[in-house]
Amino acid sequence: MIEKKWWHNSVVYQIYPRSFMDSNNDGIGDLKGITSKLDYLKELGIDVIWLSPVYKSPNDDNGYDISDYKDIMDEFGKMEDMERLLKEANDRGIKILMDLVLNHTSDEHEWFKEAKSNKDSKYRDYYVFRKPVEGKEPNDLGSIFSGSAWELDEDSNEYYLHLFSKKQPDLNWENEDMRNELYNMINFWINKGVGGFRLDVIDLVGKQPDKCITNNGPKLHEYIKEMNSKTFGDKDLLTVGETWGATPEIAKLYSNPDENELSMVFQFEHISLDEIPGKSKWDLAPLDFIKLKKVFEKWQTELKNDGWNSLFWNNHDLPRIVSRWGNDSNEYRELSAKMLATVLHMQKGTPYIYQGEEIGMTNVKFDTIKDYKDIELLNMYKDRIANGYDEKEIMKSIYAKGRDNARTPMHWDESENAGFSKANPWIKVNPNYKYINVRKNLENENSIFNHYKKLIKIRKSMDVVVYGNFNLLYKNHKSIFAYTRELNKERILVVANFYDKKEEFMLDKSIKYNEVSILLSNYSDSGKNLDKITLRPYEAIIYTLK
Ligand code: NOJ
Repeated sequence: MIEKKWWHNSVVYQIYPRSFMDSNNDGIGDLKGITSKLDYLKELGIDVIWLSPVYKSPNDDNGYDISDYKDIMDEFGKMEDMERLLKEANDRGIKILMDLVLNHTSDEHEWFKEAKSNKDSKYRDYYVFRKPVEGKEPNDLGSIFSGSAWELDEDSNEYYLHLFSKKQPDLNWENEDMRNELYNMINFWINKGVGGFRLDVIDLVGKQPDKCITNNGPKLHEYIKEMNSKTFGDKDLLTVGETWGATPEIAKLYSNPDENELSMVFQFEHISLDEIPGKSKWDLAPLDFIKLKKVFEKWQTELKNDGWNSLFWNNHDLPRIVSRWGNDSNEYRELSAKMLATVLHMQKGTPYIYQGEEIGMTNVKFDTIKDYKDIELLNMYKDRIANGYDEKEIMKSIYAKGRDNARTPMHWDESENAGFSKANPWIKVNPNYKYINVRKNLENENSIFNHYKKLIKIRKSMDVVVYGNFNLLYKNHKSIFAYTRELNKERILVVANFYDKKEEFMLDKSIKYNEVSILLSNYSDSGKNLDKITLRPYEAIIYTLK
């Protein structure tokens, strides 16, 4: 049995500050706005907030390009506002995770400015500069945001590496002074009383660009162990690494407590199922439900004893889950959003809820590319237009996968701009805010919000949800997702219909029980007869078995 930790039964809520709540009516969300909504989050029952970056930034990539790690972005407020948010959250028993972007800085960070303007400065080696090869880029490494990962610095006639935008130069983790500066900065935030960290694309920091190695480089785990020992290792904090390239074996290296690295990682295998393997995220493959179940089962079983899972459907980089694996039509949006939440939240791991997910916010379809803001999406659009792709096809990919789907302002009520701001928001509001919003959710006992609230309560009151063994049932059924969780004498059974056709099936004979009761369902009149289970469209039921 693993040693119990406070974050084992915690639920995390992710805030994308730019789009959460605007307190000063400049159209951009801010820290005071977040503080004003803490009671709402308390009501939901979450324990931790993961704040996407709030540091000083020129916003080429909405804060993931940091120009000063120890200061706050002008549009979001001042350091006092951050301290106030920390205090007000702590007063409500809510911890705050800061987002650490350690793979790159902004090109407007002092280190990069020095590095660029003076070849002999010690900061030059904080980044990755290389001489041209035959007058061109040193190699074929590509940027995740389209084009080459190398940008020519004309003054010195050398290229610098940027795995993301050219305004996000990569840091050189081989440089020990640079690493120590980052560790000092992490300690600065620990001293301010944060509850932990989310580590942005942490699997890239061991890169070896000359060998075209980007993720899972040879020194990656050495670096993370060093960071752990010099910063959060002896504190009781939650740390979660973003690791697109993690397999279960790799995830165990990070999250096995004996390794002294991180509490857990985000892995994206379930999320990447709609991509054509080997192509980009924009090249869509049909969803494969059987595979989805297999992927969840694999991670639940592999990390059972020596690791810890994070559980999520959404974040600021991903389309809204109800528009993807659910059904965002008027008829089925609420049912399918609750079904998806049920299936995820009853698994073993720490659940993450992304702002708006708890009220069933959906993807958005802007008519024109002009309304989109995300650099990744805009770069892809330009690139594909230049390469002769059909505009309609490009927009189709954007509607399905664009990051702006998750970044439209939070829907608080049906007033102008969804109650997010009195000014025109930095990105357009999803027009469906008139019927999908917090106010409506709060007044309806059967809303999606209240379903999430109940799921969180169940996790808090039942050890079996936190620590029980996971056992997938009906692995090859084409529409039923079902599993049991078991711990000592406690047992729950989760059954869910992922589609809009009614399904009937018999309970697996191996499951014995004397008594059955319903803990939660997304229909008011779900049945208790397990000899013949009938699930209506998107019906999801949690049973306790005795
Ligand atoms: C991952 C973040 O989640 C994403 O939003 C960002 O663009 C990249 N890392 C670069 O920092």
